[in-house]
Amino acid sequence: MIESVLITGANAGLGKETARQLALRQETKRVILFCRNRARAAAAKKELEENTGKRIFEVVIGDVTDADSVRRAVEDIREPIDAVVLNAGGVVGKAAANSTPSGMNQLAATNILGNVVLVDELIERDNLRKAALAVSAEAVPGVKMLGVKRVLTSTSSVDEFTAVLDGSYFGKKFVALNAYSYVKYAETMWALSMARRHPRLKFVVVSPGNTRGTQAAESLPPPMRFMLNYVMMPIVFPLMGEMVHPLDVGAKRFVDAISDERYKSGVFYASKEGKLSGELVDQSSFFTDLKNTSFQDNANEAIHRFIR
Ligand SMILES: NC(=O)c1ccc[n+]([C@@H]2O[C@H](COP(=O)([O-])OP(=O)(O)OC[C@H]3O[C@@H](n4cnc5c(N)ncnc54)[C@H](OP(=O)(O)O)[C@@H]3O)[C@@H](O)[C@H]2O)c1
Repeated sequence: MIESVLITGANAGLGKETARQLALRQETKRVILFCRNRARAAAAKKELEENTGKRIFEVVIGDVTDADSVRRAVEDIREPIDAVVLNAGGVVGKAAANSTPSGMNQLAATNILGNVVLVDELIERDNLRKAALAVSAEAVPGVKMLGVKRVLTSTSSVDEFTAVLDGSYFGKKFVALNAYSYVKYAETMWALSMARRHPRLKFVVVSPGNTRGTQAAESLPPPMRFMLNYVMMPIVFPLMGEMVHPLDVGAKRFVDAISDERYKSGVFYASKEGKLSGELVDQSSFFTDLKNTSFQDNANEAIHRFIR
């Protein structure tokens, strides 16, 4: 039973909806909203209290691109928590390729750095009791019908993952949507590595699927945003079958995976091959690199090259 949970990026989109759904479960006694902006966090807390009738929300302020800010946030969490949902992330937008003080670029830092520091710090303080859910995407195994290629690194070595995280892997041709797949691959492999290193905890990886109603499209260039919001989401995807779903369905994937014993540690769950919605399946059944324990450990080691 998950009685207490912390969700990163909880003031909007899937994070906020996950907070809402978890709060409505009878056993939930505490939901910590980890957000970078105090005003947006306060507004989300108020809305969640009104929508659920529950007074179980707390706010912790931290920026996942800044390891020290996450460490300070962890100091504010005095009592152990059962689970964390590592949701903060996305395609990031224009600043994606910019470097952060850690050496990771903004894209990698947003999707990985703070989420990993958070878990490391909680484990070190013995303040994580049961589970961590890493949020990934179908972009990792690829979606053929949309021309999104499966992530294919040549070696998945520590150096190669390091280059993905600092951006040098992509040379001058940095395309955030392409780099996003590789960054989510690195994050996924880290979580699978952690599942073996910490058998006492459940480390599960989940894609929410292609989810309407988040602010994700805001970071895309205007023409792409227009296509996505007014053409792809409402017209094209629904015609393709199992390619899109509303916010509550995407967030329910997280709620189920974190609280239902049928979802196992060390597994990356997402849609069936080539789909973006519908049934959740183990992605390693068709993307076998996910099973490679050396690749998993290489991602973990590479990420920790940036954490000092
Ligand atoms: N939507 C989809 O279809 C989809 C599909 C596959 C995977 N995903 C993944 O699902 C997760 C949530 O996506 P979403 O669509 O719900 O995105 P969203 O609506 O853009 O929400 C992202 C959340 O992350 C927070 N965040 C961003 N940068 C942060 C930082 N540096 N420090 C702390 N918080 C930060 C945002 O806070 P601010 O409001 O302050 O910016 C916001 O609360 C992401 O990891 C994304 O990659 C989404």
